[in-house]
Parts: sequence; structure tokens; C-alpha cells
Amino acid sequence: MKSEDTEPHNRRTRTQDDANALTGARTLTSITELRDAVNECKRCPLWKSATQGVPGEGLAPSKLMMIGEAPGDQEDLQGHPFIGPAGAVLDRALQDAGLSRETVYISNAVKHFKFEPRGKRRLHIKPAASEIEACGWWLAEELRLVAPKLVMALGGTSARALLGHPVTVSQMRGAPTRLTPTTHLWVTIHPSFLLRIPDDVQRRNEYARFVNELKEAQDWIAKS
Ligand code: URA
Repeated sequence: MKSEDTEPHNRRTRTQDDANALTGARTLTSITELRDAVNECKRCPLWKSATQGVPGEGLAPSKLMMIGEAPGDQEDLQGHPFIGPAGAVLDRALQDAGLSRETVYISNAVKHFKFEPRGKRRLHIKPAASEIEACGWWLAEELRLVAPKLVMALGGTSARALLGHPVTVSQMRGAPTRLTPTTHLWVTIHPSFLLRIPDDVQRRNEYARFVNELKEAQDWIAKS
């Protein structure tokens, strides 16, 4: 996953109507119903090779929602979001910021693992725009049911999914923008970005910046 996406903006924000039009879908009544239904999803071809759909988890409704890109290898096998290496970084950062998984809702822009087999390994592939678009229906339902004050987009794919157009993470990072009348969006890095920084000092600095953003996000929620 790249931490930045530099494709042109088209300035269009997804609405619930867009999502329903894409899928012709019914409206869900609870996060529990959504959790059961995700595994049945065939809105794009990713279900064919994935082990299972991976729904969001955590507190619902919640003031804070965090959205990653898509499940990885471990998430696909075990059926829970952010439980692999990126999840370990996220857990540590949440803890260092005074948060825990029980106090937030965590999900992904795309609910099925996309990969290419490489020997015995399955290498993560970034979801295509069409897959992000197809999965947007679930994201819109999660937003409606979780009703967060703030949704944090972890990385460019998530920001793209929430906004409906590509953005550059570094340009949007650092402050919330209004997403809907009741929810703001805070774009930041994906935790896996931190795993890819080879230099120890730079990695520590970037980690501290990420933790600080989580604290700022909590402060923003408390004041809003
Ligand atoms: N990366 C993500 O974006 N989501 C996960 O659940 C795991 C890794």
C-alpha cells in the first residue's frame, strides 16, 4: 500500500443514495446484522479467493471510527480487522494515545483480502478503484450505524473510499474536514507505513507523530 495517492481529484463525495444505487441494497438495522451479511458479499470478485469477509469491530455507536485499507493475510484467515503486523502497530499507538479497541470502531474500506500467491505466501495487493467503489456500500452503512463524530482514514485507500475521489494523504493530514453534516474526516497514515520505514530515528518520529494525531483527534472530539 502506498501512503500517498496522487491521482487527480474529482471533488465528489459519496452519499448513501450513491451506495444504494450501486448495489440495489436493503438497509441494515444493526452492526450485528452487518457483521453477518459481509461474509455473503459478492459485490466484486474479491470474495472468490478470500477465506471470508472481514467486517468492522468495536464500539457501535462510537464517537471515533478508524478505517484501514483491506484485510491482510491474518485478518483473512481469522476474520477480524487489524490483527496482523499493522494491527500490532495500531494497538500500540492506540494504547500510547490513551485509547483502546473497545472505545473505537475499526474497519476497512474493502472487506475482502486481495492478494497474489507467491510460493507459500499470499502477497497483499492494493484494491482497485472498482473494488473500493463496490465495497463503499458497506462503508456507508457502517458510517450510518456507528454514527461517529470523527472518522479517521488510515491511508490513501481509506480516504479515497470515504471521499469518493483520490486524495494525497500528506496534503490532507493534520486537521479534520467535514464529511457529512454530523461526521468529520481526519486523514492520516496507514500503520503499515511505519513498518516500512527502515531508519530507526525516522520511524520513531513518524510513530510519535501518529500517536500525537490520535491524541489530537480525541481532543477534537471532546471539544466538538
Ligand atoms: N491493513 C489494513 O488496512 N487493514 C487490516 O485489517 C489489516 C491490515
